[in-house]
Order: sequence, then C-alpha cells, then structure tokens
Amino acid sequence: MHKLPDGRNVFQYTLKNRAGVTAQIINYGATVTSLRVPDRNGIMGDVVLGFDSLQGYIDGTAYFGAVVGRYGNRIGKGRFQLDGKQYQLTINDGENHLHGGKIGFNKVLWEAKTLGDREEPSVQLQYRSRDGEEGYPGTVTLNVTYALTGKNELRIDYEGTTDKPTILNPTQHSYFNLSGSLTNTVLDHTLMIEADSFTPIDRGLIPTGQLASVANTPMDFRTPVTIGAHIDDPYEQLSFGRGYDHNWVLKGSSGQLRKAAELYEPASGRLMTVFTDQPGLQFYAGNFLNGTAKGKNGIAYGRRVGLCLETQAFPDTPNKPHFPQVTLRPGQVYRQTTIYQFSTK
Ligand code: GLA
Repeated sequence: MHKLPDGRNVFQYTLKNRAGVTAQIINYGATVTSLRVPDRNGIMGDVVLGFDSLQGYIDGTAYFGAVVGRYGNRIGKGRFQLDGKQYQLTINDGENHLHGGKIGFNKVLWEAKTLGDREEPSVQLQYRSRDGEEGYPGTVTLNVTYALTGKNELRIDYEGTTDKPTILNPTQHSYFNLSGSLTNTVLDHTLMIEADSFTPIDRGLIPTGQLASVANTPMDFRTPVTIGAHIDDPYEQLSFGRGYDHNWVLKGSSGQLRKAAELYEPASGRLMTVFTDQPGLQFYAGNFLNGTAKGKNGIAYGRRVGLCLETQAFPDTPNKPHFPQVTLRPGQVYRQTTIYQFSTK
C-alpha cells in the first residue's frame, strides 16, 4: 500500500479464514483498513470505516482503525506522577493529552511479520517507542497480533515491555458500522454493554473520579438499547460528550477474558460481540465526525456513521489512584486480549 513521504514502504496484509471473512491490516498505525463479514444472507460487507489510500490514514485526524497509545484515551492536562517524578505529556486535545499525543502509535510505521496458518492466519506488528517520546518515560516495545479465527473473530493480542517505569494502555480504534453501507449512521444499531456503572466526565471529557450507576439514565445498556433512542436526551453527561463518549466499568474481573458488549444491526442481522480482559470500555458514537474525512469510495464520513468500542483501562487512571492502574515496570509484561466476534441473528 505505497510509501510514506520519507520513502519507507507500507504493506497491507490480508487475513482470510475458510468462511471467507477477511481482515486487512497495514503496518502504518497497525491499522485495520477493512473487515468483511457476512450478513444474515451470507452477503459480505465491510464493517469498518477507513480509506482507499494510504494518504487518507496519513492525513486523518480521527484514528480510523488504528492502534492508539501509549495511552489510549485522555490524561488530564497531560500530567502524571510516577515514583514521585512528574511527567508532562504532549497536549493535543484542548488542555489534555489524547491517544498518545501528536505522533501516537497510530501515526508511526510498525514492523510486521505474518504468522499463523490457514486455520488461523495472523500478522504481528511491533513498534519500539523511544524513551521520552511524546513525554513518556522509558523505551516501550509493543507487539500487537491480529488473528482471524475459524469462529469469525478478529482477535487482538497485545504484549508490551519497558526499560524504565512507565504507563501503557493501548487500544484499538476501529469505527464500526455493521450495516455494510458506510453512509448510514449507527443510530439504528442496538448496543448492550456488560456494565452497571460508568465514569462520569467533565467538560474536557476527563473523568471526575466517581463511578456512577447507569440505572435510570441514558447510559443504561444493560439490555440492548437502540443507540439513537437517548443519544440526544437533555442529560448533562451527554452534552459534555456531544453524545456517547464515555467509559463503562465492565463487570467481572479484569485480567479475565469476558463478554463486554454486543452490537447488532437489525436490517443486515450482523451481530458483533466484544470480549476483553480490560477493566473498561470506551463507547464513542462518532460524534466528532463531520464529513471532512473522505473515506472509502469517496464517501464523506458524517456525524455518527461509525462507532468505536475501545477496550482499555479507564481514562486518566494515573491521576485517579482508585482506578485500576496501568503502570508498567522493567521485567513486567503488559498483556491485553480483545476479540471482536461476528455472527448473525
Ligand atoms: C476517542 C475519544 C473521542 C474522540 C475520538 C477521536 O475515542 O473518546 O472523544 O477524541 O477518540 O476523534
């Protein structure tokens, strides 16, 4: 898939399972560029937003399909302390740090090698982030492996190490639209999230530190709810996020792979089930998409044409000591497994 302005080659890998499900991945940003899965009549459709050319990903500002990090999500004022030392990260979202900074993991070239076999094709990408990059301490080596399983799952395994104490909280930033048509909004999809509470945010989208019950609020996705049903309700949290852009506190123990969410599109019958071992799930409804990004087939991506289900630790954890922490020390290994499973109903 062509060259970066500095001449380095970017490669695209196609994973295909026996059922004909395909995932395409480029080593720029460890980005998922397409994911074709069947509808209830067996018709394949691409369910992720993205671009036809590399340039779209180079110019893009909305993290389409990429792995984001070192810290996926926001850190208030880009500041945190670790072992008594204060660190200042790049500020790139109002007064805060978002998704790893100006040149996060989504804007760098990863080294790739194909692994796996016909039963489970996979590709492994590696990025070495230098000490001080975007303000983070320590050299971090992160491996991300995408595998396409025989059960129509895209499985993502992360493994990271460091040579100095640091923080690491990567996630996957695909925008999904299960209709197979990337011009429809996602407002008619139904969503279920395995969470009794969420982390309320302030105007800058930084958690206040509370865990609030979802009961009797538009944040209640304990049973499947149509996304459009309450997204514009007069509710302060929704006005701060311009819609859904919040972290849900997943039930069960983090560290253990468990069901996190189910996304369903009634017309096509496509169902996506998300499994993760992470403590939180950021559900972002594509509220900031505004038609400026011209995507696949020249389609302008308008507001809410795709949604993200980002598995990770909660936002701003280094400044919220009671949240599950993401400190990584030399000798330790960061691990995450997240699965996006596709079926029909
Ligand atoms: C995230 C954030 C959103 C937005 C998008 C990128 O998922 O939660 O607020 O910044 O990334 O546009």
